[in-house]
Amino acid sequence: MKALRRAADAFAEGGSGAKLMPASIIHEVMTGKNIAVGPIILLGAPGAGKGTQAKLIAQNYAIPHISTGDILRQNVSRRTELGQKAKAVIEQGGLVSDDLVNAMVADRLSQADCKRGFILDGFPRTVAQAEWLDKELTSLGNESPLVVISVEVGYNQLLQRLTGRRSCPVDGKIYNIHFQPPKQQGVCDLCGTQLIQRLDDTEKVISERLKNYERDTLPLVDYYRRQGRLCRVNGELPVEQVMQEIFRTIDGGAAAAGNE
Ligand code: AP5
Repeated sequence: MKALRRAADAFAEGGSGAKLMPASIIHEVMTGKNIAVGPIILLGAPGAGKGTQAKLIAQNYAIPHISTGDILRQNVSRRTELGQKAKAVIEQGGLVSDDLVNAMVADRLSQADCKRGFILDGFPRTVAQAEWLDKELTSLGNESPLVVISVEVGYNQLLQRLTGRRSCPVDGKIYNIHFQPPKQQGVCDLCGTQLIQRLDDTEKVISERLKNYERDTLPLVDYYRRQGRLCRVNGELPVEQVMQEIFRTIDGGAAAAGNE
């Protein structure tokens, strides 16, 4: 235990061996808490910061980040059958059909790394998807309470975030030319790759995505509020502060759920 503690301290300070120890183990050693975390759902409008925060949660708790948008985009770039069906819908800012997305999520949740928890980013997005997920989690024998975090950001801020977003096509790191610029313009800090702008981040498509969000996804806030699972987080704060609020919510688990 002492050796583990020393290794954890070294890890926390960025010492040697740091890359070998998952953040969850560090966290367990430092806090004495077992942090098998219930399924986490990140709700929020396009640009609210779901992807940014999901990556930080995944790192801290060593659980997989499942982004339906990322999986769909990977299918589009690999030109799979699913990708060919989804491409035009994504580029116009619409929603891919529930059947296709549910099947994709079912496949991902059946993988072994989801056993001690996972984060869903961009799913569910319709009430039908949420109802399907409830049944799927039951049939998978999941007993951990769902933690649903609604990341809330106003319209003008969303527009600035989406039009300013750039991302690395290699490691997925997300930047923003206004709020989180890379050290060198247009280049990923981590791997030096040229950053790209998503095809659906044009003003016309953004406006379609925001309309669809209000019509199809916003009702989920009420759906999970009625289940007593909804935790609201102010997504307009700086990334670090939003992250701290989300970590506190997750560490509070079910007890913190329904914070309104
Ligand atoms: P998806 O990839 O899920 O896109 P989205 O929901 O529109 O969300 P975004 O990825 O645009 O935003 P985000 O909230 O992740 O924000 P981010 O962290 O990047 O889906 C894309 C498409 O796939 C959909 O339109 C649909 O067609 C299809 N699809 C996906 N899932 C589906 C489903 N379940 N059903 C049907 N179709 C589906 O941050 C945005 C910017 O803000 C970045 O530049 C970032 O650096 C910056 N930022 C983040 N946090 C902060 C902060 N606190 N302060 C300042 N800047 C910040």
